[in-house]
Amino acid sequence: MDTQDTCSAGHFTPRIAPIPVWRVSCVRMAALSVRPMTPLDVPRVVSYVVDSSPEDRKRLGVANVPAREALTESLLEACTVPQEFARSSYLIWKVDDRPVGFSSLKGIVPGEHGGMHLHMWETELRGRGFGAILFCRSAVEFHDRFRLRSIVCEPRAANPAPNRMLRKIGFPLVQTYVGASSELSAVCELNRYEILRDVAEAYLANRGS
Ligand SMILES: CC(C)(COP(=O)(O)OP(=O)(O)OC[C@H]1O[C@@H](n2cnc3c(N)ncnc32)[C@H](O)[C@@H]1OP(=O)(O)O)[C@@H](O)C(=O)NCCC(=O)NCCS
Repeated sequence: MDTQDTCSAGHFTPRIAPIPVWRVSCVRMAALSVRPMTPLDVPRVVSYVVDSSPEDRKRLGVANVPAREALTESLLEACTVPQEFARSSYLIWKVDDRPVGFSSLKGIVPGEHGGMHLHMWETELRGRGFGAILFCRSAVEFHDRFRLRSIVCEPRAANPAPNRMLRKIGFPLVQTYVGASSELSAVCELNRYEILRDVAEAYLANRGS
């Protein structure tokens, strides 16, 4: 097989075989997916909330950390309640088959609205663009599953990562106000983004996932 090129001066220079495109993609790309939370995931989610550091709580605006047992019980219930009665729903985020975080939809009013939350507990995987794709996949799944008229996401205005991620995807910022985004949250300045299904789908299509 020809592995060398002859240059015009008569010297031989080795031809560096190009790396096939599919191989480059395999190295760079991770398999990103979401799936419903199961009882086996509950201890990890509980630990993320209950064992969070004071710095994490401040950044997230968490004020009311529940007791481990109470949170465990409510998450186990969320895993098993029939969908038509669900008031909260959880999707586990996976990178290459490894659970790395979750999205929740809380305050579900059937046929009306709900509020999305997002957390990646594997800190070394943050900031690589995975959250944006996993969030969009979760948003599409929540829209399809609950057929709500509106989903919002309300990160603390002072928390850069979710704000930057939501803007990067293209979700419209519709309001900045002072309030609490969930039963765990402190009253603080919040940015409200409208989580539109078509914006999530367009981002996924553009990212090739
Ligand atoms: C929010 C979170 C789920 C996003 O997932 P992610 O994988 O980090 O998301 P992405 O990498 O797609 O996007 C995050 C963006 O914020 C940026 N970012 C992250 N930390 C930042 C910081 N401290 N200051 C400024 N920008 C920051 C990243 O650079 C990235 O922007 P870019 O793609 O334009 O460079 C994840 O960062 C996380 O779990 N953070 C801690 C928990 C949290 O804050 N949850 C939100 C509760 S509302």
